[in-house]
This record gives sequence, structure tokens and C-alpha cells, in this order.
Amino acid sequence: MSEAKLGGPFTFPGTALTVNRIGYGAMQLAGPGVWGPPRDPEAAVTVLRSAIAAGVSHIDTADFYGPHVTNQIIREALHPYPNGLVIVTKLGARRPADKSWQPAVSTQELTAAVHDNLRNLGVEALDIVNYRAMGSVHGPSEGSIGEQVRVLADLRRQGLIRHIGLSNVTAAQVTEAQAITDVVCVQNNYNLAHREDDAFIDDLAAAGIPYVPFFPLGGFSPLQSSTLSAVAERLGAPPMQVALAWLLHRAPNILLIPGTSSIAHLHENLAAGALALAPETLAELDGIAASATAMQHAAG
Ligand SMILES: NC(=O)c1ccc[n+]([C@@H]2O[C@H](COP(=O)([O-])OP(=O)(O)OC[C@H]3O[C@@H](n4cnc5c(N)ncnc54)[C@H](OP(=O)(O)O)[C@@H]3O)[C@@H](O)[C@H]2O)c1
Repeated sequence: MSEAKLGGPFTFPGTALTVNRIGYGAMQLAGPGVWGPPRDPEAAVTVLRSAIAAGVSHIDTADFYGPHVTNQIIREALHPYPNGLVIVTKLGARRPADKSWQPAVSTQELTAAVHDNLRNLGVEALDIVNYRAMGSVHGPSEGSIGEQVRVLADLRRQGLIRHIGLSNVTAAQVTEAQAITDVVCVQNNYNLAHREDDAFIDDLAAAGIPYVPFFPLGGFSPLQSSTLSAVAERLGAPPMQVALAWLLHRAPNILLIPGTSSIAHLHENLAAGALALAPETLAELDGIAASATAMQHAAG
């Protein structure tokens, strides 16, 4: 698959790291509930190798997926890593035995998590580490993240981290972090139906900072929309491919990390880069968020 079909190249600002805009999110490779080993470990390895064979150069992961499982599968499938592959991981959470998601933001926990990632991925330094703020249940919440970013900046000075990004954050938190270190990417919840970050994305685009939507397909509640289905049918494309193509058209700094455990879905997702959407189709798809908001207001 040509690079153009994977959305074309994008360079993380101030770095030598260039990736294709369509990457892969590894969270779906762990077992049900992002816990334990996958149902089909061989399929997980095949999905990763197929992604790389198709030109994917950006993989998103976390050592708390599994926990440890996702990174261990990435290592098993891909180590020694091909030149040009950028693996982005994240810190800030832990999974106790009750399978809940808890914050892990002390200096000790962040440092231990870097070493867990290094060991389980089998690398000497991590390409990009996102500090993942816990925020509220639904998304980011204001509050200082300076203490945690300073810990990451210190680990970067030690050579264990090459670059720092942020996840589940507000614009004010990005500004706070930029006073401490360079921020090379932001990863927040965003998709066709969930567009709270519209203005934030445009501001980051102006600064050349990539915005990497998590839950690009709706995550644990996959996108469902009669408009999306109708557009997909008209274009003869799978709905999820249309949703990803819309994200690529939405802003030039959007990088995709859709998650899947299925080879068929992987190839549908990677083909989103070849799907051109006309202005009137984009406008129709833009209407999905407006009607989702109207429905929320009616329900609330
Ligand atoms: N920073 C954060 O807080 C955060 C939070 C969540 C996720 N993430 C990252 O973001 C990545 C993407 O998020 P996500 O995986 O949670 O959600 P997602 O990409 O929005 O959606 C994944 C879901 O969609 C399904 N799917 C994928 N491709 C499909 C297709 N072509 N047709 C139909 N269904 C399809 C998957 O099932 P199948 O396996 O059956 O394809 C899975 O159930 C994750 O892998 C992770 O790396 C980050």
C-alpha cells in the first residue's frame, strides 16, 4: 500500500520522527475488558505484522493495557523493530486486580512505568510518551499537570524518553506543559459524534502539533448513525472507513490510531486514506455531531 493511501506523511514537531497519518492503536489486542491475554494470540501477532507490511509506521500502546500484555505482543510480533516505526506509549494509570483503572501519577509510579514499558517493548528509550491525565469520567478536567510533566522531562533528560506528548488534556494544560518541555502530540477523545475539541484541534494545527483522536470509531460504544450508514452505502464503503476518512479530511494535523483485533477491519481502516469525500458529503457528516448534541439536550 502506498504512503499516500495511508494519509501521507506527518512529522512530529521538532523531531526526526515521520509517520504515515493512518497508524494503529493496540488496545484491542489485549483480552476482553483490556485485561489479560487475547482470545486468539496468533491473530493478534498477525494483525500487527499485517499493519507493518501495509506501511503503518505509528503504533499507539500502553503498558497498562493487559496490563503488560499489549506491549509484550508488540515485542513478540515486531522486535527487532523496523526502521521508521514510531511506538507511542502512555503513563498515568494502573490496573489493580479488580480490573479498574486507577491513577498512577507519583514520581515513583511514573518512573516505574517507564521501566515497565522499556522492558516489555524491549527498547533502550521510548520514542514518545504521553502523560495521560485522569481528568473526569467523561474527559479532561482543568488542574495542574506540571508535577507529572516535570517527572517525564527529567526521565527524558536521562535518555529514557525521546519525546513527550499529552493525553486527555485541556488547552490550558498543554500551555502549562510547554513551559516545561516540548509537547509533540495531543491524544484526546474525538470522533464524528464527539467534537468537544473542534477549536482545540484548529489551534494545535496552527502550532504544527498533531492531534491523535482516541476512540476515533467510538471506542467501547462504536459509532452508530443513520447518516453515516447512508453516506457509506452511497459511497460503497464500510461506515467505519468513512468515519476515519472524515477525520483525515477534518484537519491536516489529525493522525489516526484506530484499534482492531481483526485483519479484515484493519484493511478497511487503512484504506480510509484512499477515500476522497466531496465538500457536500463532509457537510452531511458534520451534521451528525449537531444532531447528537440536540439529542443529548432533549434527553437531559
Ligand atoms: N489516551 C487514552 O486515554 C486512550 C483511550 C482509549 C484508547 N486509546 C488508544 O486509541 C486507540 C483507538 O481506540 P479504541 O481502540 O479504544 O477505539 P476505536 O478505534 O474507536 O474503536 C475500536 C472498536 O471498533 C471496532 N472496529 C475497528 N475497526 C472496525 C471496522 N473497520 N469495522 C467495524 N468495527 C471496527 C473494534 O472491534 P474489532 O476488534 O472487532 O475490529 C473495536 O471494538 C486504542 O487502540 C488505544 O491505543 C487511548
